[in-house]
Amino acid sequence: MDIVSTKEMLSDAKKRRYAVPAFNIHNLETMQGVLEVANELKSPVIIATTPGTVSYAGADYLVAMAKVGAKRYNIPISLHLDHCSDVDILKKCIEAGYKSVMIDASLKDYEENLLITREVVGFAHNYSVSVEAELGLVSGQEDERDIKESDSVLTDPYTALDFVEKTKIDSLAVAIGTSHGVYKAEPKLDFERLKKINSLVNVPLVLHGASGVPAESVIKAIECGICKVNIATELKMPFADAIKEFFEKNPNASDPRHYLIPAKEALKKVVIEKIRVCNSMNRG
Ligand code: 13P
Repeated sequence: MDIVSTKEMLSDAKKRRYAVPAFNIHNLETMQGVLEVANELKSPVIIATTPGTVSYAGADYLVAMAKVGAKRYNIPISLHLDHCSDVDILKKCIEAGYKSVMIDASLKDYEENLLITREVVGFAHNYSVSVEAELGLVSGQEDERDIKESDSVLTDPYTALDFVEKTKIDSLAVAIGTSHGVYKAEPKLDFERLKKINSLVNVPLVLHGASGVPAESVIKAIECGICKVNIATELKMPFADAIKEFFEKNPNASDPRHYLIPAKEALKKVVIEKIRVCNSMNRG
């Protein structure tokens, strides 16, 4: 199989009330860890890369690695560009072979967000690439995007309906109380708002900032309409911790094949847990 767009996988998730996990990866080992687990559990999976990761690793390398995974494993695998506010980078990723993109013009005013998102949808759909956009403002830090909690804006359900109708996006990222990065206190999700958005809007809904959100809350969010769950921080932390621990025990080590193996194993444990929470096993 080749890498696929997120359109079919998310519409199946919407129909059958589970969510597809989107894991942010940064290199070969993190991508391998995610794909190996997804394959073992037969889960569709979205490999997400931020523009920072594209600049670090190269869109061509990332596409090539994802294609190797898709050829090796018989599960739906998508390669997604996460939180991109730069339309030129986004177009380059599509031309390089990405199958799904998120245009993030959520920092712009509503009319500008509409215009930019429509331009991206027009371009991406020519390549059969699915488009996610955000309405409202999810706080927290990812790459250069760093939004204070006090600046976060929850998604207004009726504006969401207007936005989806006018832009023809394939999925909508909603702001319902989650935040990117590490939480200082347990997040309180606005499920009533989520239900209302889901009753008005017909596209699959996306939960950002899922790291640190208790499993019961993620499960409830899926019941209320979330079809894609984004996880970044909760993969990065155990990966880094395992490397730190390795060097504490082996201060003279230098072989990446030695210190990256426990890091990959630590990441894989989280991937197993998140796939279970999303209930996406045996859907691939
Ligand atoms: P976390 O880092 O909080 O898991 O957020 C991930 C995310 O939403 C990626 O867009």
